[in-house]
This record gives sequence, C-alpha cells and structure tokens, in this order.
Amino acid sequence: MQNFEFYNPTRILFGKGTIAQLADHVPAEARVLVLYGGASAEKNGTLAEVRAALGARTVREFGGIEANPTYETLMRAVAAIRAEGLDFLLAVGGGSVIDGTKFVAAAVNHEGDAWDILRTHGADVTGALPFGSVLTLPATGSEMNSFSVISRAETKEKLAFGSPYVFPRFSVLDPEKTYTLPVRQVANGVADAFTHIMEQYLTYPAGGMAQDRFAEGLLLSLIEIGPKVLADPHDYDLRANLMWIATLALNGLIGAGVPQDWATHMIGHELTARHDIDHARTLAIVLPAMLRVRREAKRGKLLQYAERVWNLREGTEDERIDAAIARTRAFFESLDIPTRLSAYGLGTETIDGVIGQLEQHGMTALGEHQDVTLDVSRRVLEASL
Ligand code: NZQ
Ligand code: ZN
Repeated sequence: MQNFEFYNPTRILFGKGTIAQLADHVPAEARVLVLYGGASAEKNGTLAEVRAALGARTVREFGGIEANPTYETLMRAVAAIRAEGLDFLLAVGGGSVIDGTKFVAAAVNHEGDAWDILRTHGADVTGALPFGSVLTLPATGSEMNSFSVISRAETKEKLAFGSPYVFPRFSVLDPEKTYTLPVRQVANGVADAFTHIMEQYLTYPAGGMAQDRFAEGLLLSLIEIGPKVLADPHDYDLRANLMWIATLALNGLIGAGVPQDWATHMIGHELTARHDIDHARTLAIVLPAMLRVRREAKRGKLLQYAERVWNLREGTEDERIDAAIARTRAFFESLDIPTRLSAYGLGTETIDGVIGQLEQHGMTALGEHQDVTLDVSRRVLEASL
C-alpha cells in the first residue's frame, strides 16, 4: 500500500427532515449567502426549508448558478459578498452549485486574478470563507470533498481545483430532496459515481485490500440499485443508498493508499467544455474506450473487476476482460446513457479539437502511470466514436 494522508473534516447530516438542523450548524451571528441553481430548489420546497431553518440570521440569496458553473456568474456572487460583508456561504443544489460555492469561497479574499485558482489547480489558495451545503443531487461527491470544477464561458475551458480550505463544514443529505430529479439526472448520478469508483480502483494491484473490497462493494451496490432507482422516484431506501454511495465514492476513503487514474475525467471535461455534453455522459463515452485501449496496463485489475464485480469466471483472460468491458458499457446503456460519440452527433472531426485543448491544459501525461499521452488520448477518442 502507498503512503497516504487522509483528512476529511466534513460533518454529514443524513436523513429525512435534516435541513432543520442547519439551525445548529450555521453560526447564529453569521451573515449568510445562500447560493442555488435554477428553479428546482425553489419549486421543490428545499429553499423554503432552508430559509425557515436559518431563522433570524441575515440572509441574502444568489440564484442562477448553471450546470457546469461558470466563472463569469460566480464572480458576480464574489462581488455581492464583498459589497455586503457576508461571511458564511450555503450551497443548495447539486455538484454545480457546491463546486461554484467552493470557488466563490476561495475567490472572495484571493489576491490577483481569481482565474489563477483554476490555472494553478488550487495551489495558490490560502484560505476560504466557511460554507456548508444542502445536497439535492447525488452524483459528484462534492458535498464531502475538496474539489471543484469551474467552466469559463468566454474561452470554453473547464478546469478543476482542489484545496483543503474548500471542504464543506457540513453537508445536509436528505434523500427526499432528490424525489423531484428528472430521470436523466438520476442516471447521470449513478454513472458519475460509478466512474469515480473506477478511477480509484481500476488501475493496477497495489495491495489495498480494504480499498478494493470497499470499491467493489460500492460498484456492486450501484449495479444493483441503478435500474431500480430510475424506475421508482419515491423509494426512500433506494434514494438513501444512492446518496450515500455517491458520497463515499469520492470522499477520499477508497482512494487512500492506492494509485488513481482520472484520465477519463480529464478527457470528459474537455468534451463538456467543447460540446456541452452532461459530465456523466462524457464519462460513459470515454470509460469503456479507455479500458479497451489501456487493457494491458490494467490487466490485473480488469481480471479482478471481471471476477469480483461481474462474476465472470469462464473463458480465457482476454475473453473475461472483453466481457467485463462490455458489461460496463451495457450498464451505462441500461441507464439510457449512450456510450458512443456518434450518438451525440459527433464524429472524427471533433477529435483534433479535444486533443488541442488537452495539450493546452497540460494534460499530456495522464493516468496512474502518467503514460496517457496525447497519442493515447487520441486512440481512446477514436475507440469511442
Ligand atoms: O439548476 P436547477 O434548476 O437546480 O436544476 C439542476 C440542474 O439543471 C437539476 N437539479 C438538481 N437537484 C435537483 C434538480 N432538479 C430537480 N430536483 C432536484 N432535487 O439538476 C441539473 C444538474 O445539476 P448539476 O449540479 O449540474 O449536476 P451534478 O451534481 O451532476 O454536477 C455536475 C458538475 O459537477 C462537476 C461536473 O464537472 C459538473 O460541472 N464535478 C464535480 C466533482 C467534484 N466536485 O468532486 C467531481 C465530478 O467528477 C464532476 O467533475
Ligand atoms: Zn465525475
């Protein structure tokens, strides 16, 4: 097992009716900015519950944070906070609102150009406003991690940053708040969480016994509940399981002490930035092709995945690997998520552009062995046509 440092200070308030507990976790004297996305949080009553829980505190609101939150919009929130002297942020929404809030928290007291936070991937963040979150979409794990992905509309860029200063102080996870999600977003959540686990699990054997079994347990659970959670929006236990699995998939636990890949995500981010495809859908396009192209480097773990997750024990090694990759693709397709670029109206002409963006962003040595060069990324994109 590799050396590691594990730190996760986020308090989780999980279950029915837990939004009321905001009253105990937002400081009584806080001057709060509530950040949210489009209309969903107002429509399904989440914002009303938040306002009630915040009681007599000074509260301002900032709505309109987009899916794939933009720097341009978020800088308006930064200006509002500075103008009004606000000192505590509360994100109400999915990964986009929480990621956006992390950026705002880091940008308020950042000196110089705030885009440098993304350019340096968080290295120049030296502090952040305290914030909490109320999660309405299980998918990204942003509610319990220190990462954030921000887009810049002007330049069609999408970059990530991470900093220990941007862990949420707390996150409220009430599964009932997910009942109003469109089926497409629930499917996206399953696929995103699935891929987060794969990025930390499907590398090479590194002797992380608990990490492997934990990752396999999460994958098996997602495979079991995936189709059911789409079919029945009001099954509390299914929603509760999805919510907690998605959080555990990217809160640092399963990735501690083991190699990590993340090449699928880096290529996926460029597809979103250039072609506006939902984050999770880009992963469903890239991951099966990534596994195929890098099957030799990943052989040991692919065989373990085939056996322990898909129960594939018959045939030659190569047959089992082929079958495991086919099952992965079929799982995404069973969620009604197409796994080919062509299904999104894209062909070979898109590949040069994506490769150019990867190069511009220094994404030239990705993966657990840093051997995913631009040439390998090109082959992955060709395999995903
Ligand atoms: O804007 P509103 O009206 O709220 O609608 C949202 C949005 O359109 C809707 N929604 C959310 N909760 C709802 C709801 N609709 C009905 N009922 C509810 N309860 O869902 C739509 C999508 O929301 P969004 O927050 O964009 O989705 P998601 O949580 O999948 O977040 C995606 C973003 O997270 C980033 C992605 O790149 C993308 O920008 N990621 C963040 C990560 C992290 N911080 O660790 C890791 C991930 O790999 C990912 O990159
Ligand atoms: Zn993701």
